[in-house]
Amino acid sequence: MAGSEALIVDAKNIDYTLDVAGRPLTILRNVSLQVAPAEVVAIVGPSGSGKTSMLMLLAGLEKATGGAVVVNGRDLGKMNEDELARFRRHTLGIVFQSFHLIPSLTALDNVGLATEIAEPKLGMAEIRTKAAAALAAVGLGDRLDHRPSAMSGGEQQRVGLARATVANPPLLLADEPTGNLDQKTGAVVVDLMFDLARRNRTAVVLITHDPALAAKADRVYTMTAGELTETTHSV
Ligand SMILES: Nc1ncnc2c1ncn2[C@@H]1O[C@H](COP(=O)(O)OP(=O)(O)O)[C@@H](O)[C@H]1O
Ligand SMILES: [Mg+2]
Repeated sequence: MAGSEALIVDAKNIDYTLDVAGRPLTILRNVSLQVAPAEVVAIVGPSGSGKTSMLMLLAGLEKATGGAVVVNGRDLGKMNEDELARFRRHTLGIVFQSFHLIPSLTALDNVGLATEIAEPKLGMAEIRTKAAAALAAVGLGDRLDHRPSAMSGGEQQRVGLARATVANPPLLLADEPTGNLDQKTGAVVVDLMFDLARRNRTAVVLITHDPALAAKADRVYTMTAGELTETTHSV
């Protein structure tokens, strides 16, 4: 792997311990994860093992209690809330299990809103052009004016993917993005996500329950009771 400056994710010896009713609860223990630019990594592991917590730390939405989380060269532990918000806007796309689309907005406006937040200097016409291109890239060029209620789960998650990638972030985080989809639709969404990432040289950290989906990644990690280990597979 390349030198550490080149890494998009460099999380070293992370501990994450919460105070629950006055007692420490360790969620993550000595977790390290390195992801190179354009690399696609999957994390599998049972429910409650700490996968979402790990993602929250990588997104700067929670703070590690030990170790260092460096993303795109920035030490998240040393940033204040404003800096973290700016960092997220420019560095990250996030896809969730529940699609979190705004029900009253069309696909185009859902993606357009994210475009405007990421790039506030763009004019309306440019925003619409970019949002439409992102939707076309996920195969929804003919669904621009559909509201979420008029789309299937797979289509809604593809809007979620367009929203997460419209500003071309160097890192895409996905937390069980296929959790609300049937297996076949889930596989289509993950294939699309990985194709898009490989085309745009976006690094991906995908959390999934499904070993078949994880196997499509460049590398696979397993989270077990707050400890992360790389799954080695024969070449
Ligand atoms: N804010 C919190 N307060 C107390 N416990 C938490 C909190 N967040 C997560 N946990 C606990 O941490 C563990 C890991 O949770 P999580 O990261 O959501 O796991 P996963 O995504 O692998 O299912 C679980 O036991 C969960 O109950
Ligand atoms: Mg989770």
